[in-house]
Amino acid sequence: MMGKQSWKAGNMLYPVPAVMVSCKRAGEKPNIITVAWAGTVCSEPAMVSISVRKERYSHDIITDSGEFVINLVTEKLAGACDWCGVRSGRDCDKFREKKFTEYKSEFMDPPAIAESPVNIYCKVVNIYRLGSHDMFIGKVMGVTVDDAYMDEKGRFALEKCGLIVYSHGEYYALGRKLGKFGFSVKKTAGRSKKKTAAGAVNGTVKKKAPTGKRKDKA
Ligand SMILES: Cc1cc2nc3c(=O)[nH]c(=O)nc-3n(C[C@H](O)[C@H](O)[C@H](O)COP(=O)(O)O)c2cc1C
Repeated sequence: MMGKQSWKAGNMLYPVPAVMVSCKRAGEKPNIITVAWAGTVCSEPAMVSISVRKERYSHDIITDSGEFVINLVTEKLAGACDWCGVRSGRDCDKFREKKFTEYKSEFMDPPAIAESPVNIYCKVVNIYRLGSHDMFIGKVMGVTVDDAYMDEKGRFALEKCGLIVYSHGEYYALGRKLGKFGFSVKKTAGRSKKKTAAGAVNGTVKKKAPTGKRKDKA
């Protein structure tokens, strides 16, 4: 029999992204808050969530402006991400102290962090008061990506950005690739791709990927 320990309720859904969320109230300096309780919550329309404690300086900025920008974090940005998560914008100017460049997009007033390779611009459409945290549901209004990661074919090489994850209090770089969406139902790697007359590969009839056009969509 397998042994298990029972724990009281707590957050153990890991790994998660750790992102830097930029925000701004009209006429004030922009701010950055590090958020690990962030997630994708809808594909169409594209929607995300961030959960922020009421006591954070950023909480009221996001509530008042109704806008925020999620900036993905790379290995190079990990130190700044941690720092933005232990210092408050009440006491400092995080863009200035971390020497970040404000990137003003066409989507909204709050600037993105130019040094982050992917910036997701969100409009608050709902706020759920959950307890310790308020969950802001953001509708994605647009995305900007660093064109240094665009390849000749016009594909964005996200895997080359060096994104990090957060797991149980620690930051990690991503490890090796294990497969592609749907790889479990695709033909075995390493075998010959020779097709038989019936359209079968190695004797197995080739099945379509389980979903529609975009293979990365949940
Ligand atoms: C890795 C990490 C993840 C964090 N995740 C969250 C989070 O999901 N929600 C939250 O309210 N605070 C989170 N924090 C704490 C805030 O980032 C921190 O309190 C920050 O100083 C708030 O900045 P502000 O007062 O300028 O808004 C996290 C901090 C770190 C280091």
